[in-house]
Amino acid sequence: MTTTGEFDCFEPIERASVDELRSLQLERLREIVAYAYEHVEHYRRSFAAAGVVPDDLVGFEDLARFPLLTKADLRDNYPFGMFAVPRAEAVRIHASSGTTGKPTVVGYTAADIDVWAQLMARSIYAAGGRPGDVAHVAYGYGLFTGGLGAHYGAERLGCTVVPVSGGQTERQVTLIADFEPRIILVTPSYCLNLIDEMEDRGMDPVSCSLQVGIFGAEPWTEELRSEIESRLGMDAVDIYGLSEVMGPGVAQECVETKDGPTLWEDHFYPEIIDPDTGEVLPDGSFGELVLTALTKRGQPVVRYRTRDLTRLLPGTARTMRRIERVTGRSDDMVIVRGVNVFPSQIEAEVLKVDGLTPHFQIHIDRSANLATLTVRVERDPASRGSVEQLAGSLAGLIKGNIGVTAEIAVVEPGQVPRSAGKAQRVVSTG
Ligand code: DLL
Repeated sequence: MTTTGEFDCFEPIERASVDELRSLQLERLREIVAYAYEHVEHYRRSFAAAGVVPDDLVGFEDLARFPLLTKADLRDNYPFGMFAVPRAEAVRIHASSGTTGKPTVVGYTAADIDVWAQLMARSIYAAGGRPGDVAHVAYGYGLFTGGLGAHYGAERLGCTVVPVSGGQTERQVTLIADFEPRIILVTPSYCLNLIDEMEDRGMDPVSCSLQVGIFGAEPWTEELRSEIESRLGMDAVDIYGLSEVMGPGVAQECVETKDGPTLWEDHFYPEIIDPDTGEVLPDGSFGELVLTALTKRGQPVVRYRTRDLTRLLPGTARTMRRIERVTGRSDDMVIVRGVNVFPSQIEAEVLKVDGLTPHFQIHIDRSANLATLTVRVERDPASRGSVEQLAGSLAGLIKGNIGVTAEIAVVEPGQVPRSAGKAQRVVSTG
């Protein structure tokens, strides 16, 4: 294998040239499309409806003729209809809760779990984790892929894993103080609760043992990265993934550049489409990420519509392409009086106001003719500004930078509901 860089990485494939990657991807893509067609009834039907057969896939450009896979397709085949192997060959099931209707189920073969562990180990390494580190895993364990995905990867890398899961914040902080982990894997919103708890106990978070934070499972901003990095005195990097495609570790931001997650292209083929027309857009364009898992056998995923909005960027710390930080999903976007608003945009503004904390929730009330948007945000107890001043500053920033009028309710510490995993940023009524 020719190498294009001498960066420090976990596996030789991370140094493959772009040409080598493309030829590996095309080979795997053709193989997995044929495999999905042979083994899963859904693909046979959807390919037939689109008038394609696997042999039509000769080059990457042909992929656009193949049908997209949606969450609804997965739901329609609940629970095991998308499996390509007999149920007994699936060694693990995960499921995403979903806010409405049935969950979507994913099944893994032993080989799939092995690839996942390897990619998570690669991800933790790229984030700055090393064998021998103590890794505190505060992603939820269970049907959610975060906890077990991180766990297997950290073990594979050679870490001492502390499988804490989410919740029991006081105990988490005690364990961090006692076990002195170097790495933490957690949602960014829950990490804020851990930092608050440390401060409440009179501990100095900056001087704790944590040096690397691997944050994902929900959108977060550069502003929150700075906040977490300065309050904990650590490197905070972004990890991306979704259960339908594998779980965490589809893409990982490299600590040396911190410029958006590198997509592990030997196992995933990305496309960006126009969410309205489905048209495939060139690299660099903003749109919806569509992913094909190139090696997943238990439940093959061809052209899965993630709903995540981003763009594909050239490789930097690795030859593989990056995705721009995912700042929102098309279905998280709220439209208020014709203006599209993502919770991450509100987060960025909240963090600009000295005296406000990053604990916020957006309430949308549609009962009146015109929808109203209220941001409930906790004040920093140390702040000297009046509630009116704080609210006025935030309303001004939101109006100026996002273009929408927001009511601001500055509330006391602890008044915004906390979550042990993904934060619920939007509450709609009316
Ligand atoms: O959240 C997997 C995961 C666990 C990723 C731990 C990272 C860390 P799901 O529950 O299926 O899986 O949710 C997937 O979460 O489509 C995105 O909308 C969102 N998401 C995941 N990572 C990020 C991220 C896991 N780094 C959905 N930035 C995805 C923004 C993210 N959104």
